[in-house]
Amino acid sequence: MKTIFITGGAGYIGSHTAVELLESGYKIIVADNFYNSNINSIENIKKITGKDFNFYEIDICNKAELQKVFKDNEIDAVIHFAGYKAVGESVANPLMYYRNNIDSTLSLLEVMQEFDCKKLVFSSSATVYGEPEKLPLDENCRLMTTNPYGSTKLYIEGILKDLYTSNNEWGISILRYFNPVGAHKSGLIGESPNGIPNNLMPYIVKVANKEISHLNIFGNDYSTKDGTGVRDYIHVIDLAKGHVKSLDKLFRDESCLDVFNLGTGNGYSVLELVNTFIKVNNVEIPYQIVERRPGDIAECYADPSNAKENLKWKAELSLEDMCKDAWHYIKKN
Ligand code: NAD
Ligand code: UD1
Repeated sequence: MKTIFITGGAGYIGSHTAVELLESGYKIIVADNFYNSNINSIENIKKITGKDFNFYEIDICNKAELQKVFKDNEIDAVIHFAGYKAVGESVANPLMYYRNNIDSTLSLLEVMQEFDCKKLVFSSSATVYGEPEKLPLDENCRLMTTNPYGSTKLYIEGILKDLYTSNNEWGISILRYFNPVGAHKSGLIGESPNGIPNNLMPYIVKVANKEISHLNIFGNDYSTKDGTGVRDYIHVIDLAKGHVKSLDKLFRDESCLDVFNLGTGNGYSVLELVNTFIKVNNVEIPYQIVERRPGDIAECYADPSNAKENLKWKAELSLEDMCKDAWHYIKKN
């Protein structure tokens, strides 16, 4: 049985991936410093799966703490989720983003090298495509970033490519996520940002729950199907399964440096998401149209065919599932 070390495993995507890995027969070790999560998700991963695992409350930037994890456990591969992810905050405080996202990755890679663990899955983002060169976006599209958060992802992708060039015993899978939403069916783990959310689905959920009076829709004058922004929303469970498939491939291949888009290939508008949420959950979402959000793009969706062909992975859950599960999680918590 292979053992996977998950950094940032108490977070939104990490916790769902932990569940899918345990259910697929992998052993896991989880580390997190609870900067953006708490111990409940660790307990709930155990509750959902009925399986136990070692958890370390450590900062991934700290090499001595990482070395201890690698000394204590035989680790076959790592999935690196730990990082900061708020675009606006990264513009306001770029050094904090460069320090945490890049430092944690460098510490992790150095310790992996020291312990001869050379298989890594890295959480990248569709943000590395910036303003789309063409649609749908395939992995060979031009890369550019428009904010420090995105730049950390693009720099790390570059670091991983250089590392692989220096030693092709590495097996590295860079996963570019589109817009993860939804929650586990149990309602035990999901996304719960503190305060006013930045992203659309967590905002809709708070309006439906009457914590916020109404949704502001940022512009209806884009050249899209109904004028509102279009994105490739992907259920977090589908995304988590993509990680299992990418690990399976790392263990099959001698060595590789792969890049995969993880998206559905479908673009839905803000209004389509809002109306689907209203319909499947039978709730009210008052909204008003306001100015465009600076830095927003009109449309972004994936060409997921590379993952389909080479990972044998494809997103299966619908927009209805995403809306139902996001709401179920909030009602339960
Ligand atoms: P999240 O904030 O829920 O999870 C990240 C976890 O990492 C948190 O639990 C946090 O406490 C932990 N963490 C941060 N810095 C750490 C450090 N130095 N040491 C230890 N733990 C640390 O975010 P998420 O949505 O689960 O995202 C996971 C990864 O996927 C991130 O790297 C993010 O940039 C990337 N990503 C997320 C999205 C998205 O929309 N959610 C989209 C594309 C890419
Ligand atoms: C955001 C991040 C991006 C990240 C992606 C996936 C920004 C600027 N970009 O982008 O780096 O990769 O999430 O996590 O934050 N919207 C509203 N009202 C709201 C919130 C959003 O109308 O209150 C609209 C937006 O204009 C957009 C769509 O909803 O058209 C989706 O927005 P959001 O969820 O923030 O995701 P992205 O813009 O794709």
